[in-house]
Amino acid sequence: MEINPAEIPAAAINRLILGSVVPRPIAWVSTINLAGQPNLAPFSFFNAVCYNPPTLLFCPGVRATDSASKDTYYNIRATNEFVINIVSEELAEAMNITATELPSEVNEFELAGLTEAPSKRVHPPRVAQSPVSFECTLNQIVDIGDGSPGSGWVVIGNVVHIRVADDTSFANLLVTVLDKLDVPVASFGDSTGALEI
Ligand SMILES: Cc1cc2nc3c(=O)[nH]c(=O)nc-3n(C[C@H](O)[C@H](O)[C@H](O)COP(=O)(O)O)c2cc1C
Repeated sequence: MEINPAEIPAAAINRLILGSVVPRPIAWVSTINLAGQPNLAPFSFFNAVCYNPPTLLFCPGVRATDSASKDTYYNIRATNEFVINIVSEELAEAMNITATELPSEVNEFELAGLTEAPSKRVHPPRVAQSPVSFECTLNQIVDIGDGSPGSGWVVIGNVVHIRVADDTSFANLLVTVLDKLDVPVASFGDSTGALEI
């Protein structure tokens, strides 16, 4: 089958990408708005860019339901800071709860029974239960598309602090991270739920 993406519905392209580009890791992104209200949401359009300097990216999209931008995007535009928390197996259910589309005044940490822990070098809290948290300042946002549903942004972050949930020595860090993350959660299909790998 040959497909010209300009000739099929955007929803079909979405299904094709979500089903083909797998597995996608999950950035569980915590932010705050200008009033200090925390926000937490998962994004599976997520990956690393490079490690020197350490740089990550994720992609919030324009909501299909009402063409609105997501709170995460607004907050990063306003504050230039975010934390990418890694999702371990036991956090999968809580992560799915935080994907619910809610008014911006709802705190997803409270909704999902998670604990806010203070970050070291940025203002948004990290998820205390997460095995690894990357504190980021905004490098840049790249606009993709025309703002219609399904278009979005590439949010690139400078990693300014990393917190690993372990008290081992730095020499054991790599082994420890792999141990902690031996069952990371990734998205293996559509964006409405996560499956484990
Ligand atoms: C596993 C999973 C992966 C998701 N990945 C993305 C993504 O890459 N981009 C996106 O815009 N939304 C993604 N979503 C949906 C958002 O999490 C959802 O729209 C959320 O309500 C956004 O929250 P916010 O408005 O507080 O930022 C994903 C949801 C789940 C459950």
